[in-house]
Amino acid sequence: MRHFTNVHDLGDLHLALQEALEIKKDRTKYVELGRNKTLLMVFFNSSLRTRLSTQKAAMNLGMNVIVLDVNQGAWKLETERGVIMDGDKSEHLLEAIPVMGCYCDVIGVRSFARFESREDDYSEKIITQFIQYSGRPVFSMEAATGHPLQSFADWITIEEHKTKERPKVVLTWAPHPKALPQAVPNSFAQWMVAVGYDVVITHPEGYELDERFTKGATIEYDQMKAFEGADFIYAKNWSAASPENYGQILSKDMDWTVSSRQMAVTDNAYFMHCLPVRRNMIVTDDVIEGPRSLVIPEAANREISATVVLKKILENL
Ligand code: CP
Repeated sequence: MRHFTNVHDLGDLHLALQEALEIKKDRTKYVELGRNKTLLMVFFNSSLRTRLSTQKAAMNLGMNVIVLDVNQGAWKLETERGVIMDGDKSEHLLEAIPVMGCYCDVIGVRSFARFESREDDYSEKIITQFIQYSGRPVFSMEAATGHPLQSFADWITIEEHKTKERPKVVLTWAPHPKALPQAVPNSFAQWMVAVGYDVVITHPEGYELDERFTKGATIEYDQMKAFEGADFIYAKNWSAASPENYGQILSKDMDWTVSSRQMAVTDNAYFMHCLPVRRNMIVTDDVIEGPRSLVIPEAANREISATVVLKKILENL
């Protein structure tokens, strides 16, 4: 594997799952693979889990790690071509990217949707330029429209907990005070369909995700109906994704907050969220603290998904 930006880059998914379970039993089994190789992690946005788990994954593989927080201490970067750079941005991404490539063997990039233009966000302008101009393998640590390392970890977690061959997995929208990107729900829907689960997506009207990610899932606007018989509930907020309403908040309806009321109609479902989560907006305290909450095991599996992805990239260097 050269680059990793979505589920289809991983190759045989079931082999990847076997590798994940093997690595979970012996995290440093491939510690020689990354010896004298350097990972550069570039953050345009904040992170707790991705930063720690990806760095730990690189350490599992014996790699050196450099972390660059673009907004803290680096030159302010211009990302638009053709701009007369007479403002506060001192360096252009088109020089910065190949320079970053000089100092490392692999690059991870976190760059969220900016909500300035749907076209820019959905063309994945930033990570695409890293792929084009760095000369290095590049993997997503959450880009504008996808967060595949998270979805891989979510999949491992479901496989570890499922009791049915083909569980019913429900992705539910939940309210949030700020406009959030569609990266996590897009990737989650795409990944869950790709592995063959029964996938239902529920949200208020106006929150339809791009069909490129949801094809194969059932859309159900009635949240209670969607939850009936579910084995896994995955909650997430996202802002409107359609060209007309892109990046807008259309609803803050607290009836959509996941609580014991909705969980009662599931088949004793597990609760999942990628974190960070706003309690009593997305999910009530009792559900996230309850015995069926998987939010911590999901976060723990981020180390495993990142180790598998880095291993596959290193094997192809
Ligand atoms: N889930 C996730 O990506 O967490 P961070 O934003 O803290 O990295």
